[in-house]
Amino acid sequence: MKQLQWYPGHMAKALRQIKEDLKLIDLVVELVDARVPLASSNPDIRQLTNGKAHLCVLNKADLADPDRTDEFLRSFREQGMYAVAVDAREKKGVTAVRSAVQDACREKRERDARRGIKNRPVRALVAGIPNIGKSTLINSLAGKKSAKTGNKPGVTKGKQWIRLSKGLELLDSPGILWPKFEDARVGFLLAATLSIRDEILPTEELALELYQEIAAHYPGRIREKYGMEEGLPAEEALQALAQARNLLKKGGESDTMRAAALFLDDFRSGKLGRISLESMAGV
Ligand code: G4P
Repeated sequence: MKQLQWYPGHMAKALRQIKEDLKLIDLVVELVDARVPLASSNPDIRQLTNGKAHLCVLNKADLADPDRTDEFLRSFREQGMYAVAVDAREKKGVTAVRSAVQDACREKRERDARRGIKNRPVRALVAGIPNIGKSTLINSLAGKKSAKTGNKPGVTKGKQWIRLSKGLELLDSPGILWPKFEDARVGFLLAATLSIRDEILPTEELALELYQEIAAHYPGRIREKYGMEEGLPAEEALQALAQARNLLKKGGESDTMRAAALFLDDFRSGKLGRISLESMAGV
């Protein structure tokens, strides 16, 4: 897995790159994680993309609670945003992305038509924080048939475009956005869903917080998965999990570190079922 350490220098570089890319495109496809769509969105992107069409794609919807995803989609659309949910890895919802792109760019196409510009393709940039699924979505959208259009001298020097259809071209390198770091809650949500480095929170601390969240909002999941009593305080639950899975140190003591890693892994890979850690009500 790719991981990025964000130092001020990296943030400045990412910002510069996005500003350059924005000059070339009509539409930003911002990817967020359907399990944490608010925490995984970039705080500055709206200002940066002012004047461009914007489509919000809730990715990894296969891992998220479908009711909460529907709730987010409804609410985003009520706020006037274009939004769709996808599972980019399995290419589910990718057709909806294509049509949402066309809807989001209708104004631009009408403006072109009024000026007598015909058949100018819509150009889009896929952007999002690291590990959110940008490359996966680009590959899913591109499929096998799409052709790279190659470098176009002058305006798009060094840039490659992927032609998705006659009317739509995608910049083949995604825009990397930086996460919000200031808020400890956001840090927890992004670490739990693996959009920022584990080291930001130690594994055990992260697992304890996640355990509390899941026990509170998804009762029954932990019992179903591990056959453990529910309602134990988090520390005791990790010890019980270590015992249940025979994760023991020399001498028979519970290896809570390995239990924490197992629990995080099970959540991240969907083995605890479909779980969202945010809701519109702001859990
Ligand atoms: P990035 O370009 O934004 O950095 O993200 P990338 O596409 O590399 O995806 C990051 C990880 O998220 C990958 O897993 C990828 O398979 C996974 N992913 C992307 N979209 C989805 C989705 O809709 N659902 C699920 N469940 N996972 C998704 P990885 O563990 O880094 O690699 P691998 O397991 O695919 O080898």
